[in-house]
Amino acid sequence: MSYMARRVRNFGASIFYEMTALANQHQAVNLGQGFPDFPCPDFLKQAAVAAIQQDINQYPPSNGRARLRESIARKMASHYGFVLDPETEVTVTHGATEAIFASILGLVDPGDEVILFEPYYDSYVPSVEIAGGIPRYYTFRPPDWSLDVDRLAALFSARTKLLVLNTPHNPTGKVFTEDELRAVAELCQAHDVIAVVDEVYEHIIYDDARHVPLAVLPGMAERTVTISSLGKTFSVTGWKVGWAIASPELTAAVFRGHQFIVFAGVAPMQEAAATALFSSDEYYRELAAMYQSKRDFLLAALRAAGLQPIIPRGTYFMMVDISDLDFSDDVAFCRYLTTQIGVAAIPPSAFYHDPANGSQLARFAFCKLQSTLEAAAERLQKLK
Ligand SMILES: Cc1ncc(COP(=O)(O)O)c(C=O)c1O
Repeated sequence: MSYMARRVRNFGASIFYEMTALANQHQAVNLGQGFPDFPCPDFLKQAAVAAIQQDINQYPPSNGRARLRESIARKMASHYGFVLDPETEVTVTHGATEAIFASILGLVDPGDEVILFEPYYDSYVPSVEIAGGIPRYYTFRPPDWSLDVDRLAALFSARTKLLVLNTPHNPTGKVFTEDELRAVAELCQAHDVIAVVDEVYEHIIYDDARHVPLAVLPGMAERTVTISSLGKTFSVTGWKVGWAIASPELTAAVFRGHQFIVFAGVAPMQEAAATALFSSDEYYRELAAMYQSKRDFLLAALRAAGLQPIIPRGTYFMMVDISDLDFSDDVAFCRYLTTQIGVAAIPPSAFYHDPANGSQLARFAFCKLQSTLEAAAERLQKLK
């Protein structure tokens, strides 16, 4: 007999754990997991040190330190013209992952249906299942990952409570267009559905792509939970400072979940996060430019190795179409790449409820030092 509760029994080990272990074992250049291997900005380190020296050591308010909520509100107003009340419309969480979990726990009843787009960030399905919700999947198709509104509309039913959307989208690099977001907004309003929008890559966008928060579209402020975090924008994924922005009514629901998952976050990191979010627009422009040059480098390296990358419009991930290669599936390809070529990538079938949908793709992360990307490029030449 297993001691493990039924609600977690089917979750399995994360693919990141398995691929990182394989990468370490074979000393592969790890372009698998999406965390930067370079330092975070100095001003952020100094802000964290100063917060600890000021003895900001005790529990922050459960919904987050006031200065951080204020900086989140100011950033939303200056970037997107979205005006919100930092007292009643912001919940600071333990990273975006906890914000997603708290939102789903706070809004989904057993038997409610939740629309998810796949490939998905891997915490969405377990969060829905723990809440007793029923996932309904919309599958994006390569290479353009565009939204087929009729196919999406067909997923809505009288039991649909929530739609979880991620833009810019991991792992495809898709940035929802304003037209696509308008279509989503219309469907949510027609069916009285709440949208939870994961925007953790909001500042990592390329070319002419523009990030539009769903919440700014007409009629959506009162039915959208907007989630983001510090990790991607400031290269501090280990700090785990995130937030959920929503109307007072939705915030009350998210907060009920949040208060008994973690109660409160990490006080000095929240104080430093507030300093980060008061950054000038220049910081965000430089971040996007830095990632654009990494994207272009990896794109050229993958093409030079004879692979078929799909150009991402946002995020720091790049998908490669492996359908013309002679591998049984993405897992076989990624294992080969890690053990024989010395470069680790992630098999995306783990991000689909039917693994077959992702079996002809591989995901590379380029949030890495130029020297790491160069080492990967050199090894990838062996593929030819
Ligand atoms: C789409 C998406 N959402 C959320 C997260 C996690 O964010 P955090 O580290 O703030 O929990 C990630 C991290 O990879 C992600 O890719």
